[in-house]
Amino acid sequence: MKLTLVALLPFLAGALAAPMNDGKKHEESKPTPGKGKFVHSFPFDFTSMAMGWAGPDQVINNSQVAVPGLPAGYGEFQFGLNSEQNVLCYNISVYVKGNYSSPAVTATHIHEAVRGRAGPPRIAFPNPVSTTGAPLSEFSWRRSVGCLTGPFTTGVLANGSDTGTNFTVAKLESNIEGFFADTHTVEFPAGAIRGQLYAKK
Ligand SMILES: *[C@@H]1O[C@H](CO)[C@@H](O)[C@H](O)[C@H]1NC(C)=O
Ligand SMILES: *[C@@H]1O[C@H](CO)[C@@H](O)[C@H](O)[C@H]1NC(C)=O
Ligand SMILES: *[C@@H]1O[C@H](CO)[C@@H](O)[C@H](O)[C@H]1NC(C)=O
Ligand SMILES: *[C@@H]1O[C@H](CO)[C@@H](O)[C@H](O)[C@H]1NC(C)=O
Ligand SMILES: *[C@@H]1O[C@H](CO)[C@@H](O)[C@H](O)[C@H]1NC(C)=O
Repeated sequence: MKLTLVALLPFLAGALAAPMNDGKKHEESKPTPGKGKFVHSFPFDFTSMAMGWAGPDQVINNSQVAVPGLPAGYGEFQFGLNSEQNVLCYNISVYVKGNYSSPAVTATHIHEAVRGRAGPPRIAFPNPVSTTGAPLSEFSWRRSVGCLTGPFTTGVLANGSDTGTNFTVAKLESNIEGFFADTHTVEFPAGAIRGQLYAKK
């Protein structure tokens, strides 16, 4: 076993150092003026990272009233943004119970509103699924991982248009703290957990 590993190491190191298989050396992405450098997170290039810690204490209903969320619920919403290509990658882990419920196409969203305010959903993510196979009625870690490319739709209409219309990853990037992430359940329609987003340096 040891011998096999030792024999493999130079090969692995060579593979990692090798150029992309287009035969040319992979060209370094140039930073966009004013936007800073890309974060290379192979195989993706992100222009920013954002995240939010979600709990039951930040939920605001559509009348702009603070209401309790799911006690002991919490979640970690992690996002990689590529504002140039309008791509948003997400890694969402929530610890909740209850079935999802929302008028949107899914019940897990980024909404546009500052802390203490409610606002329309701009992106709907596939709902996190239990990592242990626990039933929806029980607390468990649930996860949703992937990427979405705009244009975005939420299935929620406001003033006759889908609330995802004209939303772009660039708009999120330019005002990350003006957005929050949440997930809604039957018991907590205003949000079981909510977390304001912030730029991760
Ligand atoms: C928000 O919560 C308040 C207080 O519980 C309630 O009176 C109001 O009807 C709620 N609004 C919505 C849209 O659910
Ligand atoms: C998603 O985030 C969790 C928690 O930080 C991490 O353990 C997991 O490896 C991540 N998944 C992916 C696909 O990056
Ligand atoms: C959860 O809700 C969806 C619709 O939102 C429904 O189709 C499904 O049957 C529900 N599951 C349970 C276990 O209640
Ligand atoms: C709907 O239109 C009103 C009036 O122009 C505006 O204040 C409100 O923000 C709009 N709602 C959404 C969700 O865009
Ligand atoms: C979307 O943008 C177009 C072009 O600027 C504008 O005409 C339209 O009113 C916008 N729609 C919404 C819902 O913001």
